[in-house]
Parts: sequence; structure tokens; C-alpha cells
Amino acid sequence: MTTLLRIDASAQQQDRSLTRMLTSLFTTEFMRAKPDAGVIARDIGQDPVPAIDHRFIHAAFTPHEAREDWMTDRLALSDALIDEVEAADIIVLGAPMYNYGMPTALKGWIDHIARIDRTFSFDLARGDFPIAPILKGKHLVVLSSRGEFGFEPGGVRAHLNALDPAIAACAHYFGVDRANIETVAIEYQEFKDARHDRSVMAARDATRALAQRFGQLC
Ligand SMILES: Cc1cc2nc3c(=O)[nH]c(=O)nc-3n(C[C@H](O)[C@H](O)[C@H](O)COP(=O)(O)O)c2cc1C
Repeated sequence: MTTLLRIDASAQQQDRSLTRMLTSLFTTEFMRAKPDAGVIARDIGQDPVPAIDHRFIHAAFTPHEAREDWMTDRLALSDALIDEVEAADIIVLGAPMYNYGMPTALKGWIDHIARIDRTFSFDLARGDFPIAPILKGKHLVVLSSRGEFGFEPGGVRAHLNALDPAIAACAHYFGVDRANIETVAIEYQEFKDARHDRSVMAARDATRALAQRFGQLC
């Protein structure tokens, strides 16, 4: 069975969030195209994961067989989040731009997903590139929204875009090759003018088209 993992990182609730509007649209259209698919929804915007701390790091870098009970407990949420990623064929990620980067909630989720011996292995025998991803073959659809505009490559604010490159840098932890990342972004939200209206329409069309494509592909 094909499984879609929907992650929402907006701190805003459904009726005030453009990224949630897009992830809802994607999920609805995808299920229309593939009614037998499964959906896992994880709302890290409304229910953020706690920041990792020294106990988390100690537990994560202790080999499985040597872990004390508190370590297993400390990693339980991370294990559950990774199980969801493992189960997914497609990850649809609602990722607003906050302060030119990703929301804290999304960074927190990624910090729980990037786990040695679960999502990556580390071996100095590989020389200068000791990290190798463990998960493979998944697709990532990033549905974003920004108050300003011009964050695309070559755009007037491309140099400020610390969101899309950061997601791409971490995608191998989710089993996603860079070539398998699709991004749709609403812009001009803060201007609330005709450019914003056109951007919303274009993003909705692009999201619908991607959902239909993935509904046929996977
Ligand atoms: C805390 C916060 C920080 C933001 N920072 C930026 C920013 O750096 N650049 C930008 O273009 N828009 C910024 N915005 C605007 C959001 O990207 C925009 O409102 C977007 O629609 C938020 O996604 P959402 O509607 O799903 O909540 C920010 C909004 C918030 C709430």
C-alpha cells in the first residue's frame, strides 16, 4: 500500500494557514487519485516535539544493546517519528518561511529524525564523507508560503532563502534524493494584493497537479 506522510509545521491553525491549505489540498487530491493509499498525519506546528538535549544525544549515540531504560524512553518519540518516515512513500511537508528559515517546530522534527543507525550510518572508512543515509526511494513535496517574494534561484531575495536549502540539505535523512524534491511556494502574503492572489491560485494549481501526478506514479 502506498503511504502519504503529511507534516504540518505552521504555528497557525487550519483556517489561518496557507501551508495547511496546500497540504490539505494535496492530501485530498492525492486520495482522490489513489483511494487505497494510507495517510499518516503529524502536526508538529500544533504539537511541537521538544528540543533535543544532552540526554537525547547521549541516548542516541549509545548503541542499542547498551541502552538503559531512560535512554530508550528518551528516544521513544524519535523512534515513533522515524517509523512514520520509514512507512512513507511520499512526504508532503507544509513549511512556512519564518525569519528566512524553517519554523522551530520543523527543525525540532528534523533533529529527531536524524538518528545514527536509524536514518544514517557513520563510518570514517568512507573518508571525508563518513555519513551515509539509510532510508531510500522516497519523494518529498514541500508546500511553502512566504510573506515577501523573490526567494527562487535568481530572485531578488534568493540570497536570503535559508529555508529551501536547509530542507534539501537534510532530505537524505528522510530517504529523499535532491532530485526527488518538489517545491511549491505562495508568495506576497504580507502584501495581500493581486500578486498574492495570483500566487495563491498558481500554488493551488501546482499542488493539485503534483498530487495527481503522485497519485498515478506511486
Ligand atoms: C514568525 C514569523 C516569521 C516570518 N518570517 C518571514 C520571513 O522571514 N520572510 C517572509 O517572506 N515571510 C515571513 N513570514 C510570513 C510567513 O512566511 C507567511 O505568513 C506564511 O503564509 C506563513 O505560513 P502559514 O500561512 O502556513 O502559517 C513570517 C511569519 C511569521 C509568523
